[in-house]
Amino acid sequence: MALRFRNFLIPSVLLVCFGHYQGMTQEVTYQEQFRPQFHFSPAVNWMNDPNGMVYYDGEYHLFYQHNPEGIQWGHMSWGHAISTDLVHWTHLPLALPETDSTMVFSGSAVVDWQNTSGFSTSEKPPLVAIYTAHYPTQRKQAQYLAYSNDRGRTWIPYENNPVLDIGMADFRDPKVFWYAPEEKWVMVIALSLERKLHFYESKDLKEWDFLSSFGPTGNADGIWECPDLFELDIENESGVSRWVLEVDQGSEAIAGGSGGQYFVGDFDGTTFTPEHSDIRWVDYGKDFYAAVSWSDVPADDGRRIWLGWMNNWLYANDIPTYPWRSAQSIPRTLTLRRIDDELRLVQRPVQELQTLRQDHLRLEDQVLNGIMDLGEAFAGKSMELLVEFEIGDSDEVGLRVHASDDEATIVSLNFLRGTISVNRRESGNIDFHPTFAGHYHGPVLGFKTRVQLHIFVDWSSIEVFAENGTIVFTNQIFPAMESNRLELYAKGGPARLISLDVWKLDSIWE
Ligand code: FRU
Repeated sequence: MALRFRNFLIPSVLLVCFGHYQGMTQEVTYQEQFRPQFHFSPAVNWMNDPNGMVYYDGEYHLFYQHNPEGIQWGHMSWGHAISTDLVHWTHLPLALPETDSTMVFSGSAVVDWQNTSGFSTSEKPPLVAIYTAHYPTQRKQAQYLAYSNDRGRTWIPYENNPVLDIGMADFRDPKVFWYAPEEKWVMVIALSLERKLHFYESKDLKEWDFLSSFGPTGNADGIWECPDLFELDIENESGVSRWVLEVDQGSEAIAGGSGGQYFVGDFDGTTFTPEHSDIRWVDYGKDFYAAVSWSDVPADDGRRIWLGWMNNWLYANDIPTYPWRSAQSIPRTLTLRRIDDELRLVQRPVQELQTLRQDHLRLEDQVLNGIMDLGEAFAGKSMELLVEFEIGDSDEVGLRVHASDDEATIVSLNFLRGTISVNRRESGNIDFHPTFAGHYHGPVLGFKTRVQLHIFVDWSSIEVFAENGTIVFTNQIFPAMESNRLELYAKGGPARLISLDVWKLDSIWE
């Protein structure tokens, strides 16, 4: 048998590769229980935040917080993978290892098109990574540079590091972008314990000057980490845009534990001014953290694309996967949409994911009353669903994925409460941590009798995009191997299925 791995045909026997795990050689099959089939995960060992997201010369780079020596957080370094299509990933060697005195924490990367840094050694621009060096013994975090002149394959730490050090213990996660109107670099960075973001500017990535401070505001209950700032178009309002400032918080987010919030407003090159005071959550599920967007996506593509760490600091070190821990979410495009005069962040799965679609199944115009098992043809553990329900006389309508007689993950529209929800209380293995089981609710914006959902189900996750991508739920689940039924249901009276489209999804590892 030959398996397809990226664009190559290779015998399946070669696919069983070996990873290094705590001094032992570990067999990696990508068929392990809970192994994501179309989400990025490291072959072995621990991963947290996505880092250094940059597109260059036909390749999307995904660096990530990685422990190369173990399956729990520690020895923080930058792991590395690349993709030409945002779907299939190739693992590359460790990009930035920890040193004797510093761990490599989160940060960003840019293409220095004009060689402002002087790091280029040819006519090609260098890639420059801007990241936090964490000094475990000194209670200090400072900002470092490293650069690459070989398409990100090898990285050289800048000899005069640090480039920004204010003598603070929790000063981290720099996100840098080119601010074209003033021909300068801008950095947004977190003063985590103070729940503040600082903006800095630079002409050469090496010398940074303070611009302004933002926060605490919105939700400041948890520490602030991993900010991002970018301009987005407003859908259906041609030529109109706003700036979005995103910040993650280590605890007390909407679903409990870590999560992200965003502010919509204006950035004038110095100061970010929000145009609202209410709290806006990026995700209503419990597993979407530290999302950051790709830098340097070509202008003729024009998309702002991000992904987030699909985990939560409450239980990240305990999830029952082996020999790796954590996956990244699917990549999503970002826009803004005006709803009841408020600008909301819209997240949509990138269209490239459609290349994974296998068999297509469709069901239309069904009366639902109680639970309806869709049978063998619709059963599956890795699939994309597009579904539209009509409320009818029901109180609640929805679907049950990864279902068996004993367990299911339930996505529901609850018309009495006016919410969309994901319930993983009986989703499978929930016992590894007391905060894992839960039922998460998000608002349905405005009264409707029909609701459409776009859902991605993998072996250990479910992502639900509702309300045109303005209400999103990202959650991990750990179902039994044999829990693969797909069921529809209505409670309290009959509801109607307008339509259901199901695509089984190919694995990116096969
Ligand atoms: C967020 C975070 C960052 C830090 C990194 C360390 O998850 O705490 O603030 O840079 O993880 O691994």
